[in-house]
Amino acid sequence: MSINIAIDGPAGAGKSTIARKAAAELGFIYVDTGALYRSVAYYSVSKGADVSVPENVEKLLPGITPELRFIEGVQHVFVNGEDVSDKIRTPQVSMAASKVSAIPAVRAFLFELQQKIARENNVIMDGRDIGTVVLPNADLKIFLTASPEARADRRFKELKDKPDAPSYEEVLADIIKRDHDDSTRAIAPLKQAEDAVLCDTTSLSLEESVDKIIGMIKKLL
Ligand code: DC
Repeated sequence: MSINIAIDGPAGAGKSTIARKAAAELGFIYVDTGALYRSVAYYSVSKGADVSVPENVEKLLPGITPELRFIEGVQHVFVNGEDVSDKIRTPQVSMAASKVSAIPAVRAFLFELQQKIARENNVIMDGRDIGTVVLPNADLKIFLTASPEARADRRFKELKDKPDAPSYEEVLADIIKRDHDDSTRAIAPLKQAEDAVLCDTTSLSLEESVDKIIGMIKKLL
């Protein structure tokens, strides 16, 4: 039986960095499920679809084969054989991903793929509905969060040297909007599973957060 750890939480809480480091240390596979929603968004946008109209995205689903390949423990996202790992990280794709993730047909489409990966591997899987929907029987569920300001500050520092970097205020507004959209949508909203452990990283450094999560997982093993 594989070991499954679910980490959910809002955008920018540090889920992916923390989960990636913890998985590397423990020899687990790290699965970033947001990348799957982003790959559907990227493909739809690249086909010129207005993703706020669910039918436009639904029509495209049969033509999308998203795939996660793990190369030396690092997740790469492929769509129809093309490595889109970098292309899915733009602000435009972030917003489109939030929209496509509210479409029930998209969630159903990605559900099986996520469950299959978890059945076949020891995983740390991060997302919004992993503990509540995708892996309700996960061995450990962690709900990772931090204040919107702390999350915006971290994100701003990551982006500030890039061309067209947004201002801190823009990053914060984006985070608040995505929090609102992700937690108020009708299907699989972002919410803490009843049996999840809450971990607030507002006043923790990255290293402290990673140590805390690894400690929790080691206790379980
Ligand atoms: O974690 P992220 O920012 O890469 O996620 C992109 C979008 O996908 C985000 O708006 C929430 C959504 N998402 C989701 O609805 N369910 C998941 N399991 C993962 C992400």
